[in-house]
Amino acid sequence: MNKILAAAFLLVISSAHAAQEPEAVFNRSCAMCHNGQLPIAPKKGDQAAWKPRLDKGPDVLLKNVTEGLNVMPPRGLCMDCSPEDLAAVIAWISK
Ligand code: HEC
Repeated sequence: MNKILAAAFLLVISSAHAAQEPEAVFNRSCAMCHNGQLPIAPKKGDQAAWKPRLDKGPDVLLKNVTEGLNVMPPRGLCMDCSPEDLAAVIAWISK
């Protein structure tokens, strides 16, 4: 009984958070552009490049990534990313 409760609890906890590891998503979907290969795509950790984008607020960033922005394809090509996954990667990529 305790085990079932613990499993249910874990399920509730984990479903409230991003299901995918931000770094893994970045390496798989975003790194091809956001690692310096594409100069107009802000690089991970480049504070100066991220500052004006972060100023738009997390909701705008999430919308732009989900729908795509100019050269960036919708969802940054992570088709199995939930909005929570994308939000977690955006937070990770901009630090
Ligand atoms: C095909 C290349 C490409 C891929 C793949 C890509 N991006 Fe981008 N991304 C760009 C470019 C280029 C920009 C700058 C767009 C502009 O401002 O015109 C950008 C901008 C952004 C921004 C800033 C948006 C804003 O409103 O200023 C975020 C956040 C972002 N990308 C996150 C991601 C994440 C997260 C992934 C992976 C899930 C990803 N990108 C994958 C090319 C890419």
